[in-house]
Amino acid sequence: MAKSKTRSTGPVAIVTGGTHGIGRASVELLSESGWQVVFQGRSERAGLELEASRAGLSYVPGDLTEEKIIQRLVARAEELGEGRIAGLVNNAGVGVRKRFEDCEASDWDKLFAINARSAFLVTRAALKGLRAARGSVVFISSVAGRGGEDGLSVYCATKAALIGLAKALAIELGEEVRFNVLCPGQIATRMMARVVEAPDLLAAVSSRIPMRRLGEAGEVASAISFLLSPASSFINGVVFAVDGGETAGIMGVAAPSPQPRKRRSKASVGN
Ligand SMILES: NC(=O)c1ccc[n+]([C@@H]2O[C@H](COP(=O)([O-])OP(=O)(O)OC[C@H]3O[C@@H](n4cnc5c(N)ncnc54)[C@H](OP(=O)(O)O)[C@@H]3O)[C@@H](O)[C@H]2O)c1
Repeated sequence: MAKSKTRSTGPVAIVTGGTHGIGRASVELLSESGWQVVFQGRSERAGLELEASRAGLSYVPGDLTEEKIIQRLVARAEELGEGRIAGLVNNAGVGVRKRFEDCEASDWDKLFAINARSAFLVTRAALKGLRAARGSVVFISSVAGRGGEDGLSVYCATKAALIGLAKALAIELGEEVRFNVLCPGQIATRMMARVVEAPDLLAAVSSRIPMRRLGEAGEVASAISFLLSPASSFINGVVFAVDGGETAGIMGVAAPSPQPRKRRSKASVGN
């Protein structure tokens, strides 16, 4: 796709994991809303294609577990924003589904490195620019960061860590920078391919969600865009679910309501 000719001069945001899924949808939506977006991800082809699709996008390739990539990402954002970084979306993440007794220390280290440690390091590196812009940070946790799930112990732990980090920062730094958490539910991205591609599993997962469907990446991006924008200027330290109501029920999982029983006519009583 050809780059739009209009040069973007809007505020600068960083999106980690912007090459696919929720991150990519956020890069596109923020760009449409006038932001200049510096994004990252390992898939160079996807990153370069997205960067070329419109003005105001800047792609930094590489693995976020490497500190030099984080430095490059933040330096690019500071350069574009002349020292000010108005938004940061800590989105990059991976999952692993394993029984607890099969989890190795290497699973714990790998998942924490990308899901939690990288968010800590990017936020710390970007802090000077965020302070200068009175910026807003969004951590992408998960419904699995607020509750447990069979086979997801390590993933749940990484996502809960983000909630703790964001709440502490909201208190420690709230005078200058806002920190909030988004907890997506079941969103139809690459991460959920196993579910999306299996009709029976898709039906079973959808039945646990009051809206009886998976969410779209763009629906999470809308909430991210809101939390970065001045429209959310007094929102700090909240944990915000985008899950179609999946976590609204007191039993945790919303089952379809039983159909009300038909009243039997007098004539049929006893038949
Ligand atoms: N989909 C859901 O149902 C769901 C639900 C709750 C929470 N989430 C969270 O939402 C976030 C985005 O997930 P998604 O569903 O959009 O999945 P996705 O489509 O697989 O996207 C994940 C993104 O993270 C990047 N990433 C992964 N490992 C990386 C690494 N080591 N270094 C740099 N970038 C890395 C990927 O880029 P490359 O592959 O190009 O490196 C990709 O852009 C994750 O934090 C996930 O835990 C998703």
